[in-house]
Amino acid sequence: MVTKKKADDWPSMEEKIAQLRQLQAEALKGGGEKRIEKMHEQGKLIARERIQVLVDEGTFEEIDILVRHHTKDFGLDKQRYLGDSVVVGLGKIDGRTVCIFSQDFTVFGGSLSAAHAQKVCKIMDMAMKIGAPVIGLNDSGGARIQEGVVSLGAYADIFLRNTLASGVVPQISAIMGPCAGGAVYSPAISDFTFMVKDKSYMFVTGPSVVKTVTHEEVSFEELGGAMTHASKSGVSHFVTDNDVDCLRKIRKLISYVPLNNAEEPPFAPGKDKPDRMDETLKSIIPANPQKPYDVKEVIKKVVDEGDFFEVHEHYAQNIVVGFARFNGFSVGIVANQPAVLAGVLDIDSSTKGARFVRFCDAFNIPIVTFVDVPGFLPGTAQEWGGIIRHGAKLLYAFCEATVPKITVILRKAYGGAYDVMSSKHIRGDFNFAWPSAEIAVMGPKGAAEIIFKKEISQADDPEAALAEKEAEYREKFANPYLAAEYGYIDEVIEPQTTRPKICRALEILRTKVDKNPPKKHGNIPL
Ligand code: HXC
Repeated sequence: MVTKKKADDWPSMEEKIAQLRQLQAEALKGGGEKRIEKMHEQGKLIARERIQVLVDEGTFEEIDILVRHHTKDFGLDKQRYLGDSVVVGLGKIDGRTVCIFSQDFTVFGGSLSAAHAQKVCKIMDMAMKIGAPVIGLNDSGGARIQEGVVSLGAYADIFLRNTLASGVVPQISAIMGPCAGGAVYSPAISDFTFMVKDKSYMFVTGPSVVKTVTHEEVSFEELGGAMTHASKSGVSHFVTDNDVDCLRKIRKLISYVPLNNAEEPPFAPGKDKPDRMDETLKSIIPANPQKPYDVKEVIKKVVDEGDFFEVHEHYAQNIVVGFARFNGFSVGIVANQPAVLAGVLDIDSSTKGARFVRFCDAFNIPIVTFVDVPGFLPGTAQEWGGIIRHGAKLLYAFCEATVPKITVILRKAYGGAYDVMSSKHIRGDFNFAWPSAEIAVMGPKGAAEIIFKKEISQADDPEAALAEKEAEYREKFANPYLAAEYGYIDEVIEPQTTRPKICRALEILRTKVDKNPPKKHGNIPL
């Protein structure tokens, strides 16, 4: 016999709590056991597991766990997963609050529905209100195909927020699975993009469309895998070995940056003394100026505990950028790399450097620049590719930066590249040079060939004459002393004192105030 519920048979609080718990438990299953297993078999973590690795234990506060999509077409009304295809919320990294969205591939392949986008937008809006970074863990088949244009609009809602948040809170994207079509533009606008080797790819159009349109045969990995974007396109800043490695590296990146543009970067004092000298710096630069050396060795010898967190390691390796600390203070480092293309500035290294400098400036991170640059790379490929326009980006970025700027000229600083690399003239605060510095309009050989053209061509032994004139020019101009005479260099320092000098300069500059004229925004040559 069926017992009918009476009108006054109200459910108790215990029953209501049980119902809530049942809903929550259902949401935690995502797209179900089978799909979760499939991801694990592929060596991937699922959305919530990723968040657990990313944040301090027990700090994740999930919101919108009960959101469902409202689409009825194509049988979707019978597949209304709780939470839909994204997990969003707030957690802590080293005790500091961050906002997170993590796409759940087990639900409709992590595809972006209106409900999914609404959750992402809500957490981004929260990030802007509280001044916290946004970390997006991307793993998605793109637009929810069944929702059509609604999904496209939903993407645009996110792109707008990415743009408005740019320069206000740091935005970090990790690509941990597919990321295709217009979906790539949210990571592209964010400040840093991480990719997981062999597990992730990004492209505007996939291999099959590429084959139809251009007849090129290319694999997913070759077209848009982690190494492709890290080394060829520069879209990805970090290549990581697996999900856990990726999430740990994001934690490390967060340790260098402030939570928003109104904050100072975090201070993390270590054991490394600010007055530590390093005598081995004296022998790092070869006596022969044509010989290369690895500028990363210089960086590692001067920063706290030799810990340099390189950004864009595989891209445009003739310039090196990344984060480090001096006496606990977070800095961005920009350095020409003589070990690659003699450290010359070209299109890719200019854009790489410019974007990094602008990030540091937007988020109050002082910039330390190490200079050893023979100039800009000549050739039709560079000129036709727009080295003028792209080189101007780096110049513009250094010029507009108002954060503390410390420059150390290690060896060559020639031509326009001297001006560009955070010179005194573009508001360098402390401009140091090693005694090995060569600051001149151009290299001694090129200079001698031009200004002594007649004498050399008329000499009995033109080669010897060129060598003699080259030496003459080198002695006169290829040193730091003329620049120091004009006050373009504040101090010529002995290499071993570099760390103490930088630490002291950073300490002095902690109270620096500098401003650009009021404007809507500048017009950087894009
Ligand atoms: C709805 C989707 C989906 C999508 C995948 N699924 N992508 N559902 N919309 N975009 C579902 C699948 O039906 C499947 O459901 C589950 O997710 C897992 O997908 P599989 O294909 O089984 O997984 P896998 O073999 O790993 O392949 C992953 C994939 C493939 C490469 C991402 O699913 C794929 O090609 N999807 C379509 C990609 C795409 O064309 N998206 C639209 C791009 S246009 P079941 O129920 O079987 O588990 C776009 C425009 C954005 O995004 C523009 C913004 C401006």
